[in-house]
Amino acid sequence: MTGGNKMGESIYGLKRTHRCGELRIEDVGKKVVVMGWTHKRRDLGGVIFIDLRDISGILQVVFNSEYDAELFKKAERLRSEYVIAVIGEVVKRSPDTVNPKIATGEIEVIAKELRILNTSETPPVYIEEDSDVNEQVRLKYRYIDLRRPDMQRNLILRHKVAKIARDYYDENGFLEIETPMLTKSTPEGARDYLVPSRVHPGKFFALPQSPQLFKQLLMVSGFDRYMQITKCFRDEDLRADRQPEFTQIDLEMSFVNVDDVIEVNEGFIKRVFKETLGIELKTPFPRIPYQEAMDRFGSDKPDTRFGLELVDLSDIVKDCGFKVFTDAVNKGGSVRAINAKGCGAKFSRREIDSLVEFVKIYRAKGMAWIAVEENEVKSAITKFLGDDVTKAILERMGAEPGDLICFVADKNEIVYDALGQLRLELARRLDLINNDEFNFLWVTEFPLLEYDEEEKRWVAKHHPFTSPMDEDIELLTKDPSKVRAKAYDIVLNGVEIGGGSIRIHDQEIQSTMFNLLGFTKEQAWDRFGFLLEAFKYGTPPHGGLAFGLDRLVMLMAGRNSIRDVIAFPKVQNASCLMTNAPDVVEPKQLKELHIRCTDV
Ligand code: AMO
Ligand code: AMP
Repeated sequence: MTGGNKMGESIYGLKRTHRCGELRIEDVGKKVVVMGWTHKRRDLGGVIFIDLRDISGILQVVFNSEYDAELFKKAERLRSEYVIAVIGEVVKRSPDTVNPKIATGEIEVIAKELRILNTSETPPVYIEEDSDVNEQVRLKYRYIDLRRPDMQRNLILRHKVAKIARDYYDENGFLEIETPMLTKSTPEGARDYLVPSRVHPGKFFALPQSPQLFKQLLMVSGFDRYMQITKCFRDEDLRADRQPEFTQIDLEMSFVNVDDVIEVNEGFIKRVFKETLGIELKTPFPRIPYQEAMDRFGSDKPDTRFGLELVDLSDIVKDCGFKVFTDAVNKGGSVRAINAKGCGAKFSRREIDSLVEFVKIYRAKGMAWIAVEENEVKSAITKFLGDDVTKAILERMGAEPGDLICFVADKNEIVYDALGQLRLELARRLDLINNDEFNFLWVTEFPLLEYDEEEKRWVAKHHPFTSPMDEDIELLTKDPSKVRAKAYDIVLNGVEIGGGSIRIHDQEIQSTMFNLLGFTKEQAWDRFGFLLEAFKYGTPPHGGLAFGLDRLVMLMAGRNSIRDVIAFPKVQNASCLMTNAPDVVEPKQLKELHIRCTDV
């Protein structure tokens, strides 16, 4: 065999024997063929060291001019990201050159032959662990960005999580069944992505926001345990943990109650953490009813890795001399506070003012505060509150010298949101969050309905097929705001990683529900007729859940954005920087689809 770099001079007859990162001290003496990318080249005059990289890791290859001058000359031509094949022999490194940082650090390969399989322009993304290249550039050249070892690890982890999901649910009697991508809108409540029909002018498919209705139909069909790893599409405002297309591990089960669904899914999480991260999680995970989560943490996806809980002070302040507080309580809202432990002593006036600005992002009108000192308090509001009220507040807040009590008074919704966010902000500023901890919990007993102020009607908090709790069914007609649902979310470190519910299978309750939601019978049939028709033919009691695979893997990989665990994600404005999608199309295509674009 002779070397050669004429394009196409073939790797024929040359078969890769090992991946780069696989070779170990046991392989010393073996003749190997390795292929990969030229990660780094060090030229020490007479000796060239190449770090050869493939998905398994890095291998040091040595070219020695004394051994083969021609081969050495060829190695001098190697540049970053050239693709090469090396035939060589594995040798032990001398003790002083061992590199304990890499798995192959005890050995190296002495090159006997080199083939340059391809050259490369200088890559615009540096292929280095966590390199801080601008994300826009990374996404434009995503195929290069994905050569980075951390990105490869993320996608390998994602593959493993998906594989374990398939294995685990299979072992537990679930069947993976595909559901359509071209379908009718499902009731998840985000905006749909629509696909025009060529054959039916003026009609549109919707891409599924989830397989919700189809998986319920599969229960009617008797597939009593369904799962699917599937894409979902939602046209909503994007954030770090939201993409327009994302992936669910979706499942549905017949003849089950809330506990059954929770148990089987805790089993999955336990297994996946053990087999991928080697972490033994303790189950069952804590369960917190929705109202308690709101009252204590101001959030339905509480991060309970730290304290700083909310405290309701409405009863203490309802008749005090501070109008902001009394007004809030009188109008049906509340006054709540957080004791930011030690922050009275720690924070400057400017820092406290920045907290006031912070809560305003969440629609709070202000943030009153009391800084507790040894024998007095510093505050603009205590003169209105009076000594007794101040004392009662400090006592309930467990205040000690050095503490800062932060108050928000408003409608409950705003108080929860502002203080819930303030809690997270304080934890960040005080560095209270242990990033190595995986803190799971279930939030249960969600309200069934929410009142939509704009539309002046009740809307389903989860979706219209979610079952009310048995003990609250009577309230459906009496006080819908108080009805709790058999719905649950699973939360990890303050991120909702999954959610689901037990569904309504009783036709009477379903029609009460539609009534409440303001659907006439005709409207309900128009939208969900196929499901309602199906429900006439023997529907088993059923329920399920969907995990957001992207979010789960993001947290497992210790990342802050789901973009880091998606091979080809979209950016904030829902476009792809690499392909330039969405893009204009040929007029002919539009014509075929009976579409004319206006305001563009
Ligand atoms: P839900 O709408 O709560 O429930 O979605 C389930 C989980 O999917 C993830 N998720 C997202 N991840 C990334 N980007 C998004 N835009 C996005 N939207 C949701 C979240 C969420 O918890 N059919 C029901 C499930 C059921 O009732 O069984 C559903 O889709 O992690
Ligand atoms: P003011 O009387 O408007 O000057 O407010 C006195 C203090 O109360 C300031 O520290 C404000 O930030 C705070 N404050 C105003 N509105 C609210 C509110 N809705 N909740 C809590 N504090 C408030």
